[in-house]
Amino acid sequence: MIEKTLEMLAMLNQAHIAKHMRSLALPEQRALAKQIAALDLTVLSLTDTCCKRGSFAPPSAVSKDEIRANAARFRQTGISAIRAGKVGAVLLAGGQGTRLGFDRPKGMYNMGQTRELSIFECLMNNLMEVTREADAWVPLFIMTSVENGEQTQRFFEEHDYFGYSRDNVWFFEQEELPTVDKSGKLMLADRGRILTAPNGNGGWYASMERAGMLKVLHDTKIEWLNVFAVDNVLQRIADPCFIGAVIESGKRSGAKVVAKAAPEEKVGVLCMENGKPSIIEYFEMSPEMAEQRDENGELTYRYGVILNYLFRTDRLDRSLHTKLPLHRAYKKIRYMTPDGKMVLPEAPNAYKFETLALDMVKLQDDCLAYEVDRRHEFAPVKNKEGVDSVDTARALLRLNGITL
Ligand code: UTP
Repeated sequence: MIEKTLEMLAMLNQAHIAKHMRSLALPEQRALAKQIAALDLTVLSLTDTCCKRGSFAPPSAVSKDEIRANAARFRQTGISAIRAGKVGAVLLAGGQGTRLGFDRPKGMYNMGQTRELSIFECLMNNLMEVTREADAWVPLFIMTSVENGEQTQRFFEEHDYFGYSRDNVWFFEQEELPTVDKSGKLMLADRGRILTAPNGNGGWYASMERAGMLKVLHDTKIEWLNVFAVDNVLQRIADPCFIGAVIESGKRSGAKVVAKAAPEEKVGVLCMENGKPSIIEYFEMSPEMAEQRDENGELTYRYGVILNYLFRTDRLDRSLHTKLPLHRAYKKIRYMTPDGKMVLPEAPNAYKFETLALDMVKLQDDCLAYEVDRRHEFAPVKNKEGVDSVDTARALLRLNGITL
């Protein structure tokens, strides 16, 4: 096995790893060869993903005004679905949070100033408002990574699941992919392991399948899954009004969206592409498209996505084995140099490969854009400072009456 691995590494232009492997003791060589055999090395030949885009149109949407006018009815429909056990939620918490630079799971970050208030607690408090109103638990599936899974579970245990019913919480781990440097070379995590990183937020349903979670879904007869990001501390989870609006629209998926603040705002926008729901990234939009306005003078493509989607499980089952495109993201990732030094870089140093949840939207038959007020539902914690940072999110939490 060791000889075969060495040959393969040479063939893949990874002779530096072969050289490192030869310097190890035999048991370590075996362990490294075993890890390499399990890695998906096809990513080594991947360059930037790009694809020709189709023809765009705005999506069907319910605006804030329409939601306000129909809120009681939507809410009732949503609450009935939750009570009937048809709704589950999926928390995507496997990211590395490299921009925040916090060395524990991002959900453990303390938003509080005079008391402890972790991101996880903010989210669980929001979810509990719904479970109280519905008088029913929403089954919650939490995706973690190899790196942060244990710590995340321990944190929930230590905090008694923040008052949630632990029988209604499941953890599952996502897969990893190798990470490469600027010139496409594999890197070392430590003496005996290749550096890998979580494979993005698009593979969550496939990871649920691998972890045996689909049986839970099917046994409990969950029909809808609300999937959401860990790092929006104002995230409304299993929002009855959102669920009700999507069900009543007859659409088979929904996306919470916020109106773009300006044409040049850096946010992916929900649209239709060749008749199918899709998301166009800000850098893919021509200035004309970004600035185009409808008959009311509003931006035609104005609905920015906030990583809060509602999907039907039967649709997810159908596209379970559809391969999603892999994207490259240049990030700051801790690694070991060939001479054995551990480095925590100050600037991005490595490409990780990821599938994205936004590509799952393209597999849906249709998608309702559900507009929310960003001041009440969108407080992302991405960066240490500046935009979308701890400070901006704290200000929004305060604005919403939350004591920090
Ligand atoms: P981001 O795209 O912000 O990535 O994740 P990140 O890794 O958390 O942070 P940066 O870019 O390194 O600073 C958006 C959401 O998707 C989840 C994150 O936990 C967050 O909820 N995610 C991301 C995963 O669950 N797995 C991944 O592999 C990547």
